[in-house]
Amino acid sequence: MEPACGLLARYREWMDLPPHTRDQLTLCEGNTPLIPVPRLAERLGGGFDLYVKYEGLNPTGSFKDRGLVAAVAEAWGRGAQAVICASTGNTAASAAAYAARAGLKAVVVVPQGKVALGKLAGALAYHARVVQVQGSFDHALDLVRQAVERHPIALVNSINPYRLEGQQTAAFEIVDALGRAPDWLAIPVGNAGNITAYWMGFTRYHRAKNTGLPRLLGVQAQGAAPLVLGHPVEKPETVATAIRIGNPARGQEALQAARESGGRIIAVPDAAILEAQSWLAEEGIWVEPASAAGLAGLAAEIRQGRLDPQGKTIVVVCTGHGLKDPDIVLQHADALPTIEPKLAHLEPYLTADR
Ligand code: F0G
Repeated sequence: MEPACGLLARYREWMDLPPHTRDQLTLCEGNTPLIPVPRLAERLGGGFDLYVKYEGLNPTGSFKDRGLVAAVAEAWGRGAQAVICASTGNTAASAAAYAARAGLKAVVVVPQGKVALGKLAGALAYHARVVQVQGSFDHALDLVRQAVERHPIALVNSINPYRLEGQQTAAFEIVDALGRAPDWLAIPVGNAGNITAYWMGFTRYHRAKNTGLPRLLGVQAQGAAPLVLGHPVEKPETVATAIRIGNPARGQEALQAARESGGRIIAVPDAAILEAQSWLAEEGIWVEPASAAGLAGLAAEIRQGRLDPQGKTIVVVCTGHGLKDPDIVLQHADALPTIEPKLAHLEPYLTADR
């Protein structure tokens, strides 16, 4: 019996995928929670409904599973033996998992020294061939594009249209949960596939069911903000390594989506990203730094009076789990107290504030 879980079971009719797509591919991805965070809304001034779409709860810990289930199912149905991608880490882990599930090989090309631990370990655990490039994600993507011109290996970066077909399902889920589109959607932007996919999903649903359209607030990190600056960034730098990208492949589409929606793409400093990560953790939601960029951007826009949230419904997309990047938390933590196993030594810590 085929499992009736996962995105291809739930949303196949809304996805424009070729007939040869192997619809049975699934790790029961998607169906992630839309968590109400009223205290966080109060922190930002209150008077509106705020939700977190917690994409870290996908099988490999990030939203990438939505796109990779579709792209790998298509490649598998087409008879591909192997898939390849460039990645800042999450795509790598996800491609590796879905390739493994389909019985295909995965080659993942990542920037040396700039991939968070949980992602690198994930890709290795799922048996991918992991190759590090001396350069950034942009160099890795360039290399992968060259590779697929010469070799029979399926490219599963978000320039592959089926990635977007899968990733748009997050927009469907949000509309299905709320009964209509939110007023604003705040979302991190790196290679710019995800914001493009969300817009595709919202517009597709709206055309069919009149469910409304959100304004999109795309958020880049200040040190890696080509879409805000209007030109590629040679050496992108940010603590949010997932979105450390200087020349996004879907940049123009992302800008167009933001514009069409009546929204925009902005940049926030690393300190604001880490602060937003900490706010989310106070709600019990641990995300990796890049995933907090959407919230950081929303907070900045509200504080600076550029976004009036009053009476609105706002969704913040948190793209990946905190377990992906444990180092960042440990780096910023105080030294941990170590004691002899005696109650008297523990007692000072029972009442003291952290
Ligand atoms: N958040 C996380 C956790 C990501 O891993 C990424 C992208 C993004 C946001 C941005 O999404 O690229 O569609 O604009 N990660 C890619 C990767 C680049 O290789 O895993 P985007």
